[in-house]
Amino acid sequence: MSQALRDARNYEEYKEQMIKPENRPGFHLSARVGWMNDPNGFSRYQDKYHMFYQYHPYDSHWGPMHWGHAISDDLLHWEYLPAAMAPDMPYDHAGCFSGSAIELPDGRHLLMYTGVSEIITETGERRSIQTQNLAFGDGVEYHKYAHNPVITAEGLPEGGSRFDFRDPKIVRIADGTYRALLANDNTDGGGQMLLYRSDDALHWTYMSTLAKNQGRLGQMWECPDLFRLDGYDVMLASTQDMLPKGFEYHNGDGTFYLIGRFDPEKGIYEELSDHAIDYGIDFYAPQSILTPDGRHVMIGWMQNWDTCNLHTKSTPWFGQMSLPRELSVKNGILYQTPIRELEEYRGNEVTYENVVISDEATSLPGIEGRMVDLEVTVHPTDTLFDRFAVRFAKNEIYHTGVSFRPRESVLKVDRKFSGSRRAIIHQRRAKVNHNQGGIKLRLIIDRYSVEVFVNDGEKVMTATYDTELSADQIEFFAHGTVAFDVKSYRLEM
Ligand code: FRU
Repeated sequence: MSQALRDARNYEEYKEQMIKPENRPGFHLSARVGWMNDPNGFSRYQDKYHMFYQYHPYDSHWGPMHWGHAISDDLLHWEYLPAAMAPDMPYDHAGCFSGSAIELPDGRHLLMYTGVSEIITETGERRSIQTQNLAFGDGVEYHKYAHNPVITAEGLPEGGSRFDFRDPKIVRIADGTYRALLANDNTDGGGQMLLYRSDDALHWTYMSTLAKNQGRLGQMWECPDLFRLDGYDVMLASTQDMLPKGFEYHNGDGTFYLIGRFDPEKGIYEELSDHAIDYGIDFYAPQSILTPDGRHVMIGWMQNWDTCNLHTKSTPWFGQMSLPRELSVKNGILYQTPIRELEEYRGNEVTYENVVISDEATSLPGIEGRMVDLEVTVHPTDTLFDRFAVRFAKNEIYHTGVSFRPRESVLKVDRKFSGSRRAIIHQRRAKVNHNQGGIKLRLIIDRYSVEVFVNDGEKVMTATYDTELSADQIEFFAHGTVAFDVKSYRLEM
């Protein structure tokens, strides 16, 4: 084991003791210590779910990337394992960037990741170059392949950048050969997804370009994923520097999915439509997995690159993953619902039917807390109300809210009063479907986040906040007259 990895392991073990479990999210995976970004190597191996992550243990801000590691039986309770990789080789000394994992036929766990190294270019500039690398492991210890890198800039298609060439998503297809999907920048105008093939997962050749930016969907693309679901092939991607388009793509660095059809033998992807994956503030770089019982489950980094650098250095952990979300495709739309295992931790059910409120704010006895699963069904009405809102993580000073304006068909998440003292992004709006004001909202509230699932998962809005934990009230507000049902559960993990 390298000194760099040994140091990281010693440091995380010592530093972790200073973080009380009650000061972490209740059921979202957070950095063991220091900084976390993208989920990496999300996979099932030896009867456990494995999640690795972009990790800088020594600081609560981004730095030379390690791979943190955690395992779980239910994707809600996580056990930290020692850091899996440190930037300790000539080809990854500037960082072990994002990647993926599979189990090999011989039983080893294979990690495929981007190594970043620095070079001085012909013009004297210092630049990072990115190559793809492998590590083999047994679920705890991982050894980098002796013949790394396995994919370099050599063989890139015309215009492909060696500086932005990363985040391999590896799969083993039905005939036993391997494919890797890679994000790349192109001089002809930005992001593209490249397909590589291999017979043995060690020797790779460029096969085709599956999707291209063509002046839309931001600039450099990152973190691809591709899987078959409900008769379609869904491509997930994250993208830098997006221009908003109507109510889509307001996140700067945001996410999108493509619905299409993929032919892995011919290396062709036929694209049918694109949408944002999440319409809130904090969601990026998702990866998905197929569970043993056949569900596609996705987890993203619950943060936004534009707002993730405002906390102090003394923050002991920074960065959390989203809830695991079950995916399906209906009517050409990617639906997301909270992983059903969450329902096993529902306690203290409180139900109200046909609550009617008019131009007022009200709390409902028994509905409160900072770890809550809250279902709100607003009834359709002939006289449309102006606004309905649910406010949570609330006391006299603070609240975060979700408000719905049926006349505009807009749902808004707003964390302006969550305790932030910075003029950063605090709101996001999404267009939502409703039937004369009738809409279904499911809010999954954890200590430091909310994920709002609209109309059984048609859209999702995610936001993090850092509100004092004593702010635990929940309130309902109406401008106009609103009738609704509520079902609330305390989540007891
Ligand atoms: C996405 C990303 C990846 C990269 C990693 C570096 O958030 O920029 O493209 O591999 O983060 O930490």
